[in-house]
Amino acid sequence: MPTDRSLDPIGVFDSGIGGLTVVAALQNLLPAENIFYIGDTARVPYGGKSRKTVERYSIEIGGLLLAERAKVIVVACNTASALAVPRMKDIFKVSVQGVVAPGAAAAVQNTKNKKVGVIGTRATMSSGAYEHAINGLDPEIQVFSVACPLLVPFIEEAMFDDKITDLMLARYLTPLLSNGIDTLVLGCTHYPLLRDAIARIAGPDVTLVDSAQNCALAVKSLLDSAGLSAPSERLGRLDVALTDATEGFLRTAARALELEIGEVSLRSVQSTQES
Ligand code: DGL
Repeated sequence: MPTDRSLDPIGVFDSGIGGLTVVAALQNLLPAENIFYIGDTARVPYGGKSRKTVERYSIEIGGLLLAERAKVIVVACNTASALAVPRMKDIFKVSVQGVVAPGAAAAVQNTKNKKVGVIGTRATMSSGAYEHAINGLDPEIQVFSVACPLLVPFIEEAMFDDKITDLMLARYLTPLLSNGIDTLVLGCTHYPLLRDAIARIAGPDVTLVDSAQNCALAVKSLLDSAGLSAPSERLGRLDVALTDATEGFLRTAARALELEIGEVSLRSVQSTQES
């Protein structure tokens, strides 16, 4: 018997459009669920900011999602997952699901030669969260990580298929690939939007993995065990809100991921106005 909260949305957020890659996986696995997505476009990117700031932003956006009656919060941002999830778990009464643990699990499931590369934002890479999560599952795996701070701005500009993006990827990935990795974790939810370009540079011997599918599975099991799953005979809806009116690239990303997005609303984050 569904509880009265079963029709409340899964709350999902990212600094920008990257979390839509996780939304696509959630919709695929859990088509009956309503999803409320917030992209913190007023403050993107998070990846070069301090733990304190990313924690504050994440807690504020989490609060906005709770105001939309989110029954679970999905932190569809590796930077926020690496830096802010522990604090969010302390503060919020609903379950909080990040993307680092699911991404690490995907890498461990895939690697044969136990050499794994990870790319992500500066903040995610310097947190060591991926090394910690991967080696927590298998201490024998060697993890090679590289911060790719220029990628998110390019993706937010929808430069998915562009010579400059390819050059930049080659610069970031060539040293990483020389370690003989067989698995590359896209440790930023923006990066699956560049999957084709990354695959061209990484070549056929390297499997690209990301957290989206495992994250959706983790959310499913959270909802099932809490009796919060929506009744299966319905079709859920996706609502999207941004913290700044920057809709253009949102629509490009939604097209790339085949997501249907209706009207986009705005939410203000008061503390962006502080001096
Ligand atoms: N998509 C994000 C991540 O997974 C954030 C990128 C950013 O805002 O720098 O890390």
